[in-house]
Amino acid sequence: MDPVATRITALNPGDIQPFVEQLTEAQAEARLRWLSSELRRLNDLYHQHDAPEVDDRTYDLLYRELELLESRLPHAVAHDSVTAQVGAAPVDGLLPFTHVIPMLSLSNAFGEDELKQFDERIAKRLVEHTGDIEYVVEPKLDGVAIELVYEDGVLVGAGTRGDGYTGENVLHNVLTIKSVPQRLLGQGVPARIAIRGEILYPLEGFAQMNARRAAEGKKTFENPRNAAAGTLRQLDPTLTARRPLAFYAHSFGDFEGEPLGDTHSAQLTTIASWGVPVNLENQVVCGLPAMVQATERLQALRESLPYEIDGAVIKVNRIDQQETLGFVTRSPRWATALKYPPPEVTTVLEAIGYQVGRTGTVTPVAHLKPVRVGGVTVSRASLHNKDHLSELDIRVGDSVIVVRRGDVIPKVERVVLDEAHADRSLPEFPDTCPECGTRLVLKAYKDRTKQIMQCPNAMGCPQQVRGGILHFAARGAMDIDGLGEKIVDQLVTSGLVKRVSDLYHLDKHQLTQLERVGDKSADNLLDSIEASKQRPLGRALVALGIPVVGEATARDLARHFGSLDHIMSATEEQLTAVDGVAEWVAQQVHGFFHDPAAAAEVERLRAAGVLFPPEAIPIDATSDSSGWFTGKTVVLTGTLPTLGRSEAKARLLEAGAKVTGSVSKKTDVLIAGAEAGSKLTKAQSLGIEIIDEDAFLRRISD
Ligand code: IVH
Repeated sequence: MDPVATRITALNPGDIQPFVEQLTEAQAEARLRWLSSELRRLNDLYHQHDAPEVDDRTYDLLYRELELLESRLPHAVAHDSVTAQVGAAPVDGLLPFTHVIPMLSLSNAFGEDELKQFDERIAKRLVEHTGDIEYVVEPKLDGVAIELVYEDGVLVGAGTRGDGYTGENVLHNVLTIKSVPQRLLGQGVPARIAIRGEILYPLEGFAQMNARRAAEGKKTFENPRNAAAGTLRQLDPTLTARRPLAFYAHSFGDFEGEPLGDTHSAQLTTIASWGVPVNLENQVVCGLPAMVQATERLQALRESLPYEIDGAVIKVNRIDQQETLGFVTRSPRWATALKYPPPEVTTVLEAIGYQVGRTGTVTPVAHLKPVRVGGVTVSRASLHNKDHLSELDIRVGDSVIVVRRGDVIPKVERVVLDEAHADRSLPEFPDTCPECGTRLVLKAYKDRTKQIMQCPNAMGCPQQVRGGILHFAARGAMDIDGLGEKIVDQLVTSGLVKRVSDLYHLDKHQLTQLERVGDKSADNLLDSIEASKQRPLGRALVALGIPVVGEATARDLARHFGSLDHIMSATEEQLTAVDGVAEWVAQQVHGFFHDPAAAAEVERLRAAGVLFPPEAIPIDATSDSSGWFTGKTVVLTGTLPTLGRSEAKARLLEAGAKVTGSVSKKTDVLIAGAEAGSKLTKAQSLGIEIIDEDAFLRRISD
């Protein structure tokens, strides 16, 4: 038999793996290529022509074989392989997903004593049982809980936990996760099954993604769990497909079919045989001592696992016993979660560095001997400020205890006061800025209870200029795509950009002179700089980088005052009157707009065309109030009968539309008035919807 061009190589899913393994490298590669194009062809016949050539089972067997070949020969995977699973289209917003059986939570146990009490409670309730209880001990995966619904073996739904009863439908993204099977293959696949588990962001991929985001000037994710949650909530699944999410099943929701097994472990083995990933560290044990030992084994393993865990879950293994035990309010009596303390390790302080932030604050940073904490290698930790150095009494050469609590940025918890500590010299905080040499000043911070050292050279210190521009361009601010660390560095070093308003005067020629900036990326960057002029007031306020004004405060200020002029002329009392704005925050805002240099920069931004428009209805996924124009790209042309151009534009922005100057494929609608010219013809040729002022006003008031 020629193994390459034979359609069916195995009649049962279990026979595929041995078949794939016995092929020589060359045969496997040839078979992979043949299968890859054959499956694409079958896919096309099925989806585009409604003319399937093979039955579902044959397709599934071939598909599984291709998956196995691709995992054997990762270098040979075609970039457009059918297994790349980017099947779903972007969605407009996330829809609710109702759990037929609510997703409950677990009770917590802290320490061995509480595990003992858990075991005793169970033994007491299982009156007919004698001897040790059988448990499954599993890692408590620190990710996002998800429910996958399979009907006749096909993945038809995926929802987050939400409040336990209703979550969000994220099927379009789950379809891109390689380890989530789109079809269950094998014996006894039920008519319907809801499989629950955890979506994880593996640590290596997480570190790479964060490094990439930092280099592009984008906000980094706090920890892998947040990154997984953020990724799952993306509206466009092609973004999700680029991130290496993983999945492990750990429990079940509703079910129609033959029982999967008498024990939890047997049930997991059954679904594993259909291709569902089940964690390999799960362990079946008998009685309390073995259960405790298994939790200790997992804790010891924690540092070396490629994903984060925050504890162990202990479950009574027998399903009949689980049923007898039942539930208390929102958690099962038959399971509990042992929480591990935040990971903590000892390492050595090799040096103290001093970092200048975008507002000139000089922060001491611990340079540590690299060490793994909770699965992440760390070599830096913030030491906050001058006072914190003396509070810790930290000296170079000291052994220090480092803790990671929830986020990736570790903290130096305390110093190990060994004998040599007293002989080590005290750290010396610099007098001058390590970046520009300007003399540092001591400044009160927050509610004046803290003091910081600051470089006062805001406009001249290169580090502050770079930081300010990256902050201005960041996602929650002006969202200028393509303005990352590298190019900002080049722009500042070359002297093209000394302040953010200079960005709006860059031209293509200047950009293409920079190293490794081509025609296309220059065009893209100029387009995103242009688009940023329309960012709503709240985001533009964030972008200005007023110390202590984050996204929430900026939004509150924008909603309260409605325009930049009103905020700029507000008194400190008027600013404090805004809900959520503390007195010291009001002082910073007031101080900022009364600083002549800052006020002049705001004027330069306005002169360059930055609009600071009033808050529009948010266009993001979390928005629930949206109108016809929300998120639409609109072009205005010709003279409208009653509305002036700027009034029409302002009303569109307010309604959440994006107003652009030229018609392209991305335009959703053209509003045309009298004597409309080439834009009208172009829109007609592209088949874009064209409306008049009347229709515009009707839609906007709807
Ligand atoms: S079993 C009735 N097993 O922990 C709850 N949950 O508070 C049955 N979790 O958000 C859940 N690892 O998603 C179970 N091995 C594991 C788990 C696990 C993590 C999560 C779960 C839920 C939370 C429970």
